[in-house]
Amino acid sequence: MPLTFASDESAAVAMHVIENKGLDNWLNRQSDQIAAWVRSTGFTGSLGETLLVPSGSGEIAMVLAGYGSVEKRARGRFHLAHAAVKLPEGAYAIKGLDASRASEESLGWLLASYAFDQYREKKSARAQLVAPDGVDAGRMEAIAAGECLTRDLINTPACDMGPSGLEAACARLAEEFGADIKVVKGEELLSENFPMIHMVGRAAEQKPRLVEMRWGDSGPSLTLVGKGVCFDTGGLNLKPTSAMALMKKDMGGAATVLGLARMIMDIGLKLKLRVLIPAVENSVGGNAFRPGDIIRARNGLTVEINNTDAEGRLVVGDALACGAEEKPDLIISMATLTGAARIAVGADIAPYFTDDGLLAEALDKAGGAVADPVWRMPFHAPYEKLIEPDIADLDNAPRGGMAGAITAALFLRRFASDVRYAHFDIYGWSAGNGPAIPKGGAGQGARALLEALPETLGL
Ligand code: BES
Ligand code: MN
Ligand code: ZN
Repeated sequence: MPLTFASDESAAVAMHVIENKGLDNWLNRQSDQIAAWVRSTGFTGSLGETLLVPSGSGEIAMVLAGYGSVEKRARGRFHLAHAAVKLPEGAYAIKGLDASRASEESLGWLLASYAFDQYREKKSARAQLVAPDGVDAGRMEAIAAGECLTRDLINTPACDMGPSGLEAACARLAEEFGADIKVVKGEELLSENFPMIHMVGRAAEQKPRLVEMRWGDSGPSLTLVGKGVCFDTGGLNLKPTSAMALMKKDMGGAATVLGLARMIMDIGLKLKLRVLIPAVENSVGGNAFRPGDIIRARNGLTVEINNTDAEGRLVVGDALACGAEEKPDLIISMATLTGAARIAVGADIAPYFTDDGLLAEALDKAGGAVADPVWRMPFHAPYEKLIEPDIADLDNAPRGGMAGAITAALFLRRFASDVRYAHFDIYGWSAGNGPAIPKGGAGQGARALLEALPETLGL
């Protein structure tokens, strides 16, 4: 189901957005009949409250949506998304919301309309919003479509979204926007010098691969790298049951960069886009890579494997090295890389690392502006020694686990030499505590990046 605004404005029901403290004032301006109805229902204007107001003939005359207070709203985002999932099917037009809030709220409405219902009989029907004045409806729908793609890719179980499924998804996206696709698969990964991608994925039934998509032929160059571990068992360092449960989402980095790529192509940003997705499954088998193995990566560095469950940095490392060889104006990697990042900032915030102060400034500002919270973490150089073992250049899983998100980021930085670089360690999943971001796969950081790109790349 596409996440779009209502096309027929004329039939829309008015939705009055009312704060707690504004309710009395609003009621004073209504007919006695309406005021009496609203009072008798106990509607107070609190966040998340909705109320249908009937006409004399029993139709829906209008609806009210509670908008709480400034203090209550500060605890969350996308407050009208409650109404989007509670109201009956039909079109609604926002009344009484200041323009500065309309953009976030209408995006929240679109995002709340998402449902992952491919695998069930019962399909969800949703209320639709009329695009408020001053909102760039086309841009917002492009953003929602990108996020929708990200969620679908993550939510699709690994049995249907293995390396070949992820490749097919890239091919469909490329087809839709006239982008070019190239795939290096199986043994070719060795002859084309992607040893770590091959090593991590070689024990799986579906061949490991690197999928490359290129789009656009003018403007600055942007390369996006996304971790596409379609399922992460942990490998021979097998994960316990609870830690493996959600690992279909370990291609969340790939899903999020593809969502961002979709936004960029749909909006038509003038840049040369390259997307690199190492798509593998981290499986168990007689031919699986082992703890203690040492591998020479694409960029020539040797890596000692101390934990086969620290596989993301290996596949992303080779892809980053490949990306950096072309010296693009900016490289971004996104990966569900470490549990430590979750411990540090929780599921809501996308932590990112960069040495580029201007990019960080633009990202922080953008994250606030588009309600996509991001937080800068340090590439703390004194911790470099933690990723240097005795007998190889790099260690994929430093013992002790101190600063796990930072050491993983430092590891990746060794593969992104001499380029402007940022790495996002995302969670890619929502527990569903807010309606605009339902339980399941969730994009993080893509909207902030989209917003920050023009300033960052001089578009
Ligand atoms: N995919 C996981 C990281 C992960 C786990 C992200 C849970 C989000 C939620 C990654 O491949 C992994 O297993 N990382 C290990 C690294 C460790 C062995 C150094 C981790 O974070 O425990
Ligand atoms: Mn792992
Ligand atoms: Zn992983």
